Amino acid sequence: MSSDAQRQSQGYQISDSGQEIPCIALPEPNLHMEQDAEWCVIRGEDGWQELRFHDYGQLYMTPGLYERLFYDILKCNSPTTVRKLLEGQMKKAGESPETLRVFDLGAGNGMMAEELADLGIEMVVGADIIEEAALAAERDRPGLYADYFVADLTNLSLLERRKLASFRFNALTCVAALGFGDIPPRAFAEAYNLVETNGWIAFNIRDNFLEDEDQTGFAALIRRMIDEGLFSLEVQKRYQHRVATNGEPLYYAALVGRKRKSVPITWTE
Ligand SMILES: C[S@@+](CC[C@H](N)C(=O)[O-])C[C@H]1O[C@@H](n2cnc3c(N)ncnc32)[C@H](O)[C@@H]1O
Repeated sequence: MSSDAQRQSQGYQISDSGQEIPCIALPEPNLHMEQDAEWCVIRGEDGWQELRFHDYGQLYMTPGLYERLFYDILKCNSPTTVRKLLEGQMKKAGESPETLRVFDLGAGNGMMAEELADLGIEMVVGADIIEEAALAAERDRPGLYADYFVADLTNLSLLERRKLASFRFNALTCVAALGFGDIPPRAFAEAYNLVETNGWIAFNIRDNFLEDEDQTGFAALIRRMIDEGLFSLEVQKRYQHRVATNGEPLYYAALVGRKRKSVPITWTE
């Protein structure tokens, strides 16, 4: 048996990017799950093991597993969509991405930083609430982030706040990380407030989190930011973020605009 076939029989496969990763199996296609309850099983040395999609720490621990699951299998294209939208708006405004100093919130293992590097930005700093994300970003995309904060934006220390402010960010990106028990409105507002006036804001969010019946707080916050002139929304696009495990499309909205004023944190209480 060739060594490839032998590794396959042990539960490993070679991903599109040439990495050896565990075999992944999805639940039955007729099983409907909310996005924050989705899971798959992966085959490790000790047999099949359930993995919840929101166990990001577990996902990031195996190189290539996050990309294989969300990007190859479930066809996520959010970082590319948000990047293209930002690129288009900057072009329209006659501005060059080379001037961008970006704060990438909910950075994970660096999918958005890769897009930003392709755009030719000046620099990007990442932040994520879990240590595994920072470790995976350095392992998988070394050197892309000028700095990476493992931090809770709702509870920054004075030192973290000062350090973050010293980067004088003129852009914020936040991709596939708002709502669903992930980044709350308050953390988003804190990150937004770290961006200089007229800086670029580019993010995505599940489309129904922008509707009237939204319970996450994002719909009310973003609407108020727009209505009261804090955020000038330049473009909003509804698109397929990825498919669910049963193959149904999941629609998100990508928004790009400019910060005009900071958000009073009391608005998120
Ligand atoms: C689906 S991943 C997206 C990662 C990356 N932006 C991408 O597009 O691949 C969501 C990320 O948000 C992070 N996250 C969740 N809650 C957070 C919080 N309160 N503050 C910062 N990051 C958070 C998770 O740890 C995870 O890495």
